[in-house]
Amino acid sequence: MFPIGIHDIALATGHYALDLEELAERHGVDPGKYTVGLGQSTQTVPATDEDIVTMAAAAAKQIMAEHDAGDIRTVLLATETGIDQSKAAAIYVQDLLGLPSSTRAVELKQACYGGTSALHFAAGLVHRDPGHKVLVLASDIAKYDLGSAGEATQGAAAVAMLVSADPAVAVLEPVSGLYTANVQDFWRPNYRSTPMVDGKLSVSLYLEAVEQVWKDYEARGGRAIQDFAAFCYHQPFTRMAYKAHARLLEVHGIDTDNARLDADLAATTVYNRLVGNSYTASLYVGLMSLLDHAEDLSGRSVGMLSYGSGCVAEFFGLSMVPGYRRRLRTSANQSAIARREPISYERYREIREFELPEDGSPKVLAVDGAGPFRLRAVAEHSRMYEACHLIQA
Ligand code: HMG
Repeated sequence: MFPIGIHDIALATGHYALDLEELAERHGVDPGKYTVGLGQSTQTVPATDEDIVTMAAAAAKQIMAEHDAGDIRTVLLATETGIDQSKAAAIYVQDLLGLPSSTRAVELKQACYGGTSALHFAAGLVHRDPGHKVLVLASDIAKYDLGSAGEATQGAAAVAMLVSADPAVAVLEPVSGLYTANVQDFWRPNYRSTPMVDGKLSVSLYLEAVEQVWKDYEARGGRAIQDFAAFCYHQPFTRMAYKAHARLLEVHGIDTDNARLDADLAATTVYNRLVGNSYTASLYVGLMSLLDHAEDLSGRSVGMLSYGSGCVAEFFGLSMVPGYRRRLRTSANQSAIARREPISYERYREIREFELPEDGSPKVLAVDGAGPFRLRAVAEHSRMYEACHLIQA
């Protein structure tokens, strides 16, 4: 069978960055709780004219600049920050990117696991037709109640991946370990803009899922743990990757200490520490961080652990294609994060209070962010987007 996997990958994030030391001061807690205990330094706060569509389109635009739009037959957009109960956000992105109308565009949801489901479904489509290329988008804005324990883990980012046969970056390995359980650790009813969350339960369920997916992976003939050159975990906060990796090593009777965990994980946490939780995108932001900061992993395998509350988890391997480093966008990724505008706590609160009309009344939005696409207005219950050709790519 021909190899299928990630042919190209790109990152976008929002316009502002909130310093967690400032948030800690406002919450009356020691900053070390957020910077060391959770392992977060800043969190992305999207501008008022940014949303999951503008971020996803900003990530995908970089990919489309290098590939033929005519090759894309499917756009899969995973998010848990949906903008509509019916229409797929993927359609807005398809339109903003000028992709052909002979494309299918669909939205997928299962908490933070949605991006991984899109990647695997895309591989199935390519398997059916090797000429088929799929644009996989994972785009989210993590927003918790003000003053809650989750507020320090907020963030936002989008990752775009082009999935094809004979990929240039990473081949999806055939074995997956899977685990699903009907649990209430984190969910967002339709009438709420922030999730219901039992934080401690969610951490313990994530760790339980690590054990369960590994068991299934092993039972299905997956690789031995020693075969992996690196590991990437879903990162609601970067210390969660440390907890998860420690659990995986414990299951194998491998002694862990902070130095070992740092050596295994530091490269995969560089970007996530700065953007915060980006839900569906988080695991793939971690992958990009790893690839941009680790030694050459050509020909080696990376273990990927995806967890989405509710819950669904998957463990699978990515085999890095020799020469993949030529395809990375390290400086664009770093500058997407570095160019965010630092924001005061007061401005952050103003943005939190900003709301789009919910009764269909028209509102034209002032320019706030500086990305290549923006939400221009809402009217008649519809969002209207525009490309900002004069602003940065
Ligand atoms: P909390 O309960 O306020 O924090 O919120 P804590 O008391 O557990 O402290 C956090 C850590 O900081 C602890 O370390 C403390 O010891 C340490 P640990 O014991 O865990 O190793 N600490 C300090 N360290 C250094 N200096 C100090 C200091 N003080 C304390 N001065 C919680 C933590 C995760 C519960 C909260 O942030 C939360 O509710 N977050 C949202 C839910 C979440 O992120 N869950 C993660 C697993 S579920 C998941 O990943 C899915 C998700 O992405 C959603 C989806 O799938 O869609 C969330």
